[in-house]
Amino acid sequence: MYKKFLQLTKNLTVSLEKGLNFLTTQENNPLYFHGALPLYTFWFLIFSGIMLWMYYIPTLDRAWTSVNYITSLPVLLKDASGHLLLKNGNAVVVAVSPETGIPYGAVVRGIHRWGAAAMMITTVLHMLRVYFTDRHRAWRWLPWVSGVLLLIFVLFVGVTGYLLVWDARAYALTVWTQKWLEAVPLIGASLSTFFIGGEAIRDFTLTRFFFFHIGGATFIFWLIWMHFIRLHEPVVTPSRAVNFLTLGFILVAAGVYPAVNVTQELIARYPVLAVDQNYIASDAPAQIGYLVQTIRYDAWYLFPYYLIEKVGVNWAWFILGGATLLLFVAPFYPKDRRDNIAEVIDAKCTGCTFCSLDCPFEAITMQERAPGSKFKLIAVVQAARCSECGVCVGACPFQAIELPQNLSKSIDADVLALLKSGA
Ligand code: HEM
Ligand code: SF4
Ligand code: SF4
Repeated sequence: MYKKFLQLTKNLTVSLEKGLNFLTTQENNPLYFHGALPLYTFWFLIFSGIMLWMYYIPTLDRAWTSVNYITSLPVLLKDASGHLLLKNGNAVVVAVSPETGIPYGAVVRGIHRWGAAAMMITTVLHMLRVYFTDRHRAWRWLPWVSGVLLLIFVLFVGVTGYLLVWDARAYALTVWTQKWLEAVPLIGASLSTFFIGGEAIRDFTLTRFFFFHIGGATFIFWLIWMHFIRLHEPVVTPSRAVNFLTLGFILVAAGVYPAVNVTQELIARYPVLAVDQNYIASDAPAQIGYLVQTIRYDAWYLFPYYLIEKVGVNWAWFILGGATLLLFVAPFYPKDRRDNIAEVIDAKCTGCTFCSLDCPFEAITMQERAPGSKFKLIAVVQAARCSECGVCVGACPFQAIELPQNLSKSIDADVLALLKSGA
């Protein structure tokens, strides 16, 4: 039943991809770059992130100001001597230097924000694609399991990015995360302390979030390496047209809808921002102890918090934990009949290494033969990695490796019979 479902989704996905070829041509069909696109958008995040890093100050009283300084849409009031004051309600939060911000800073922040959304969207689409085409099971378990870890880390890095802004939303998210972690039996309190870098929120909290953000992004690189380790020549770059299209989408989104924290002063200056009026409280600088009522949710990264708010911490653990568990076990069910794994015929193998070089799944290793043998090496198949593809059979000049259900002699005989019959 489940296999039939996978067969159906495979047929539908392939038809959809072929259908799109009529519009885009086969070379520029974005669906064929499902794995390359998350990687491509990741580069946008790295470069825009490094630019933001140059001005970001990870302390409780400067983080919000530094982010707004970067976005170059001045929201600051001047005092009599011309110094800019950042106001939250009637209280002056901090006085900053009189520059108005970094040129195009809002666009760079927009690229980071929209690039992050693009990465999450393309990652989820990529996951659905490999799942629906049934390219996630058996010997593909490692790319799948490392993929699930990638998904978790993309989410984690995105969430910590939202915390760095240190607005009222970031404070609310921090409090909810603490509650969520504290709900873990036995180690909950320690997890929460680890997360905020101490007993209470302080400057080290933001330093830690910053570390989680950058450290998490670095770890993604390592995970990508794990992800590729058993893939033969993965497609890692989209075609030029798809590159430009993605670049265009992100730039246009960042230009038309730059990432800013909306304030009353900003709306007065840019009336178009009035549509975001309801989020002023969510976008205002964080105040420890004040939990804002309505927060601005980002569907791609903040859905776990939406869940926590709607169903409570325990149910959120149950739903998110259950979904993650299902993802982790997906490649191990249903098990296929594995009766056609390549077998080496010891007596014929000369140890020439051709099969091991050609195997797309790194399933053949070359091992030393016993001393005194005629040949130095012998090919050994690692059954768990073998996809039963038969490439090694074609690669072997000595007919020393075979698929037991498709012996090369019987294939040769079939081909000869077909040729003779003129079919
Ligand atoms: C940062 C996120 C990710 C990146 C950059 C990435 C990148 C890639 C690339 C470039 C490929 C090769 C595609 C090809 O050659 O056509 C690939 C394959 C694969 N990915 Fe991902 N991936 C990511 C996330 C995920 C996730 C979340 C999953 C699933 C949970 C996943 C599962 C797989 C599987 C099973 C394959 C092998 C598919 C096959 O052999 O056809 N990946 N990935
Ligand atoms: S059949 Fe041969 S080439 Fe294909 S995965 Fe198995 S060992 Fe590798
Ligand atoms: S190609 Fe054939 S002979 Fe060469 S190592 Fe592989 S099995 Fe042995």
